[in-house]
Amino acid sequence: MPAQQTVLLVGGTGRTGRCVLKQLLGGCVSVRVVVRSARKLPAGAADDPNLTVVEADLLSLGDDDLLRQVRGCDAVISCLGHVPDFKGIFGPPRDLVTRATTRLCRAIGTLRPAKPVKFILMSSVSVNRPGGLDARRGMFEKAVVWILRGIVPPAKDNQRAADFLCRDVGMTDTFVQWVAVRPDTLREGDVSEYSLHDGLVSSLFAADSTNMANVAHFMCELATNSRAWEDWKGRLPVIINAITS
Ligand SMILES: NC(=O)c1ccc[n+]([C@@H]2O[C@H](COP(=O)([O-])OP(=O)(O)OC[C@H]3O[C@@H](n4cnc5c(N)ncnc54)[C@H](OP(=O)(O)O)[C@@H]3O)[C@@H](O)[C@H]2O)c1
Repeated sequence: MPAQQTVLLVGGTGRTGRCVLKQLLGGCVSVRVVVRSARKLPAGAADDPNLTVVEADLLSLGDDDLLRQVRGCDAVISCLGHVPDFKGIFGPPRDLVTRATTRLCRAIGTLRPAKPVKFILMSSVSVNRPGGLDARRGMFEKAVVWILRGIVPPAKDNQRAADFLCRDVGMTDTFVQWVAVRPDTLREGDVSEYSLHDGLVSSLFAADSTNMANVAHFMCELATNSRAWEDWKGRLPVIINAITS
């Protein structure tokens, strides 16, 4: 029997993070969460023998404490996002996702694991692949995204976190491999059929929908299914709900 996998989940009290947590626990994966308040975890989760809860402010954890959380993990999933109110969007930490991604990846590197650790980032369709690979955006849409990044800190933060993975970690890191998952407009709803795409499918002005349960399903597949991982590692897949007639 293969050894039980261990996943570190950050952002596990958020809308998508809670879905990820439920699906991981349903799949008998050993899960560690670092959360600001355990009371925000899904009902009953805290009693699950496969869950270890650390109540702490992730960005305030010292290096040694962070290493302790990362040590022994096969995968790290980040569903962090800025709280959608004025303080969450414009107040500190404006670089929440970038700083958490950077620190977690560096912690993995410090630990020098025998097998690369998978880092799975919840990103967004507002994030571009570097090098102009998302050619589908027209000039007007590119200008809007550029302005958004200038005035809405979370948009800039999500782009910088993805850029860190693409440019700083890259494709040849010995200890970290990564995928940045790009959902479109998030929706409630159960796991349903979804499709995955290398590049953008729709414009920001005619957005698609993505169930948070589907994002969670794909992230859990990436963490636990080696075939899914081999297919998508080092890429920024766009995930959208399948169109049903
Ligand atoms: N909204 C959309 O349509 C959409 C579409 C595509 C992508 N996205 C991206 O997807 C990601 C997740 O979205 P979501 O709606 O599932 O997130 P969410 O419900 O807003 O949850 C955010 C998570 O981040 C945590 N968090 C916030 N500030 C923190 C801080 N300073 N320190 C530590 N943890 C902190 C929250 O913890 P607490 O519970 O303690 O607050 C929560 O667990 C975001 O990056 C978002 O930009 C959103």
